[in-house]
Amino acid sequence: MNKPIRIAVTGAAGQIGYSLLFRLASGEVFGKDTPVILHLIELPQAIQAAEGVAMELHDCAFESLHAVEIFDNPTAGFEGVHWALLVGSSPRRAGMLRKELISINAPIFVDQGKALLKADTSIRCVVVGNPCNTNALIALSHAQDIPSSRFYAMTALDETRAKYQLADKAGCSVKDVRKLAIWGNHSNTMVPDYENTLINGKPLREMIQDETWLNKTFMSTVQERGAQIIQARGKSSAASAASACIHHLKAATAITPADDVFSAAVLSDNNPYDIASGLVFSFPLQFDHAGNHSIYPGLAHSSALKDKIRHTEQDLLNEREVVKDFLTS
Ligand code: NAD
Ligand code: LMR
Repeated sequence: MNKPIRIAVTGAAGQIGYSLLFRLASGEVFGKDTPVILHLIELPQAIQAAEGVAMELHDCAFESLHAVEIFDNPTAGFEGVHWALLVGSSPRRAGMLRKELISINAPIFVDQGKALLKADTSIRCVVVGNPCNTNALIALSHAQDIPSSRFYAMTALDETRAKYQLADKAGCSVKDVRKLAIWGNHSNTMVPDYENTLINGKPLREMIQDETWLNKTFMSTVQERGAQIIQARGKSSAASAASACIHHLKAATAITPADDVFSAAVLSDNNPYDIASGLVFSFPLQFDHAGNHSIYPGLAHSSALKDKIRHTEQDLLNEREVVKDFLTS
């Protein structure tokens, strides 16, 4: 048996928590020989619901699930954890933009950033709660003893959404679509980069020549998918968001193949694409054997895509301005 891994999930009794926890417990990410200890963190009023989730986790009799612990505060809940998955926060409702959640959710990430100081020294943190890029910026600014390279905001869902759309259009499998970067903010300004995507190892345009579909239909489908799901379901995406979080953990714990990238938002300081520093911006990443990431360099863009990338950068600069009082200087 390997050493146990402690994983904290905030918002454990929420929609995403209800999908995510069972997949973490199943051994799917860290392997059946790695015991998992889950820290379920919830607001005091949702502890009873978290207890119900814990009962169901036990009832699955997952071999790799070593223990489930429940906490009503992040300080105790983050103690000794190796991964912190920051999901707990309000989701948007129909008609709202994700950025409208800033004033409701930002304070959560101040407290949680501070509480992460109790985590294991190897801690890595994935922010899912929206607006996730700016919430991650708040959390990392308050977790001052933790290297900022350990913080990610999740854009894996945008990547898998984009992959499905391209595979469907090209009539291939999603596994044939590689090097698909998501740039910028997890908002309706994000840029799914079809210009650098490979299909079956060849430039995407050898398979898809329909420019109007690419720069209008595809782009807006990916950018607006979250809103479309809220419209259809009456609730924001949950199982697909949990699945994307599992994807993130798998990608961050494996060496990225040389001909592929994985998208996540990271602190933009010293990036090779001339994006303003001090933002949590989604880039194409590659992970090494130690779980450290680097930004994949040298991707070129048309002037139309460059303009879109500037637009999503401006979106994040605006969000940062709104939360400036929540950031440490
Ligand atoms: P939900 O309302 O079903 O669950 C949220 C849970 O968080 C609730 O149980 C609530 O009690 C808990 N919570 C709230 N504040 C908390 C705090 N301070 N500490 C601990 N727990 C807290 O919401 P959901 O559908 O699970 O979505 C959660 C978040 O994830 C939302 O902000 C949503 O917009 C976001 N989201 C992000 C992505 C992405 O791709 N980045 C995708 C889907 C949803
Ligand atoms: C999503 O992309 O589905 C989530 O960020 C939820 C939302 O508000 O769109």
